[in-house]
Order: sequence, then structure tokens, then C-alpha cells
Amino acid sequence: MNKAAIVVVQPARNLAGSLHLPGDKSISHRYAMLAAIAGGTSRLENFSTGADCASTLACLKTLGVRWDRHENTVLIHGRGPKLQPPRSLLDCGNSGSTMRMLSGILAGQEFTSELVGDESLSRRPMARITTPLTAMGAKIIAGDGGRPPLRITRGHLKAIDYKMPVASAQVKSALLFAGLFADGETGVVEPVRTRDHGELALRAFGAQLEHRGNKARIAGGQKLNPIETTIPGDLSSAAFFLCAAALFRDSQLVIDGLLLNPARARLLDVLISMGARISITQLEEQHGELRGTVHVEGNTLSGATIAGAETAALIDEIPVLAAIAPYTATGVEIRDARELRVKESDRIAAVAANLRAMGAQVEEHDDGLRIPGGQELHGAEIDSFGDHRIAMAFAVAALRAEGETRIRQADAAVISYPGFFAALESLLQR
Ligand code: S3P
Repeated sequence: MNKAAIVVVQPARNLAGSLHLPGDKSISHRYAMLAAIAGGTSRLENFSTGADCASTLACLKTLGVRWDRHENTVLIHGRGPKLQPPRSLLDCGNSGSTMRMLSGILAGQEFTSELVGDESLSRRPMARITTPLTAMGAKIIAGDGGRPPLRITRGHLKAIDYKMPVASAQVKSALLFAGLFADGETGVVEPVRTRDHGELALRAFGAQLEHRGNKARIAGGQKLNPIETTIPGDLSSAAFFLCAAALFRDSQLVIDGLLLNPARARLLDVLISMGARISITQLEEQHGELRGTVHVEGNTLSGATIAGAETAALIDEIPVLAAIAPYTATGVEIRDARELRVKESDRIAAVAANLRAMGAQVEEHDDGLRIPGGQELHGAEIDSFGDHRIAMAFAVAALRAEGETRIRQADAAVISYPGFFAALESLLQR
């Protein structure tokens, strides 16, 4: 990442227009991985444009999977369950999803592979996957403190019943993917419900899977079939535009083909409860994933408290909710969000530092933030800390500040949405 990349954001009057977003990052990773081990060619349209999903595709190529990409359509020529031994390290870049979920598939391969990541990924916890995968029989050597790199050698995988100590959809998917290669039926129970894209994707590729509430079970030895599909727009990328539009009374924003999976769309409920006017048309479903056209009109926003299961459901949207919190009437309180400290950056600390740089009062807690409402912010020089969601969240905070905001390392946005700043500019009314 270019540490010097500075983007300057000027205040705006409102947002108006329409937007179509590249495919959801969570779904793109999972479809790519399952397509790689399916028998035949999958066609994935509107694949994520983010660098993270490109890391997944690059790792798959190193594992002998052929694919072609024409703009955002990716054809993946699946190899069936057996991948090819890699001749080099598997570089996951900044992508925790790549490292964690691919580990589930690699644990079932008959060769040794080594997964590495960038500076940020190298600091992130991996024991959450190495512990259960080891219990299934994989042999894994991690770096210091259970962090990357990961060297994975297959043992003979056997099914386990695993009660996950942390709520993590990546871990859940990794274990269900490993379950495909295990003897017996692998069961996963999560402490609170997380996004179910892994379960839905496994079914889309033809696997039989039981899935009820926070429990999922999968039998080993199942073969996957290829799919043809269009990936719905990324809800977590949409979050920046939804929050930006909600902030200004006169905004009118339409986003079509947007992912509306109930496990991901909680932000819409929160914004509605805060006073934004949101409606949905063109609701459709493909492979169990809902999508639709979302219309947003801004309003004076009240506040919100996000805690417990709601925090897990909103985990990637919390930075932007926190970034608009000072402009709400009564503020925003976020609890039970300790996981945010081990994302691409320590997102609690990053949000607090940037809001303070813009003149806001913020209370920082171990597991969250309390940000009073009714505040006026000023533009400032702030830092993305190399984290895509922090760069984009503060571009939104900048829109209602007095004076310009300079975002350092703003190019971090490429991780999930390379077109972000251009799309935002195209919608702003000044
Ligand atoms: C993701 C799950 C979440 C989320 C990440 C993507 C996924 O991470 O923060 O951006 O695709 O499953 P955890 O599984 O670590 O909670």
C-alpha cells in the first residue's frame, strides 16, 4: 500500500443518483473456493473487484486451478476435490477470509502448503481455525502467538462437533469446507448467528447440509457441481453510501442488485430505526441469497445502541456507523465489539483516533465506543491505518464536517472496493 496516498474529501450538501455495486466480497471468496473444488466450470458474474478476492483467485491459481477473468465475469475451471501441490507460498495479501477459509480446504489436501499474508494479516489471530482443524486431524504449524504464516499438512481428517468460542463466519465456513474432506459428519455451533454465505454456497454447489439457527452439519465425501450466477452487490460497500445518504435530509439514493441476505442487511433496520426512509423493490433470490433495489432518503437521524448479537450481525458496518454517530441527535453506543480490535486494524482505536482528530468527543471502551450526538466536526488529516473500511468510513464523516478532510493511505479502499472514491464523488451534490 502506498503510505503517501492522500485523498481529499470536501463537505457535501447531499447525495443523489443511482449506483450498482461490484459483487459481495464474502460471497465472491466462497463461490471462488467452492468452484475450484467442483467438477466443471463455474461462471461467476459481478465478481468482487476488491484486492482481497483477487488474493483468493491468485492462491487458487497457485493450487493449479485455471480461471479466466473478463472484467467482472470469472470462469473457474474446477479441478474436483484434489488441488495441485503449490510450487510457491500462498500469498493471502491483506485477506483474513482467504487465509482462514482456504485453510479449511487445504486441511483436506494430500500435500503441504504455506499461507502468508501482509503486515496487517500477519498480526491477526489464527488459533480460531488451527485449533479445530488440528482437532480434525490436520497438522498445522503457525507463527508466533498462533499468527500467520500457516504451514498446513493433511492428516486423515475426521469429523468433529465443534462449539465455536468466537462468533466468526470465516471460521464456520472453514470448518464446513474441511468437513467435505472428513470422515463422518462435521457439526458447528456458533455462539451467536453470523452470516450464512458458506452454508448457502455449499448448497448452491450441490452439497447436502443441515442448517438451522446457529447450527450447521455437513457429511464428508460429497462432490460439488459447478454453478452459473450473478453475485449480488456488496452490502458492506453499500453501507458507506447508505449512511452518507441517510445523513442529509435531501438525499435520494438508489442501489440496485444489492445483497439483502437477512444475516447481512441489519444496517437497513438500524438506519430505519434512526429515522432514514428506506424502501426495497425488485426483491429476488438466487442460490438462497436475496437481492433487491434499495431506495434511501435522508433525514435527521436519532441515535442507536448496538450490542450482543446485533454487533456480530453488523461487524463490518460499525466503523461507518461510528463515523456518522456525532451527527446523530443522541449518539451511538457500541458494545460487545472486541472482535473489532483484531480486524485489518484495531478498528475501535482507529475510529476513536480519527473522530478525535476531527474534534469529536468519544469514549473508548475495551469492547466498543460511546459517541455522543449533536456534535459538529471539522476537517482534519486522518489516517486509514491501512484499513479499507476506516478509509471509506471517514470519507463519509468528512461530508458533514466543516472544511476539507485529508485521508492518508486512502488507497486501502482497493481491498474491498477500488472504485469507491470515484463512485462517491459521482453522487455528491455540493
Ligand atoms: C467475513 C466475516 C467477518 C467479517 C469479514 C468477512 C466473512 O469476519 O469481518 O470482513 O466473509 O465470513 P469474522 O469471521 O472474523 O468475524
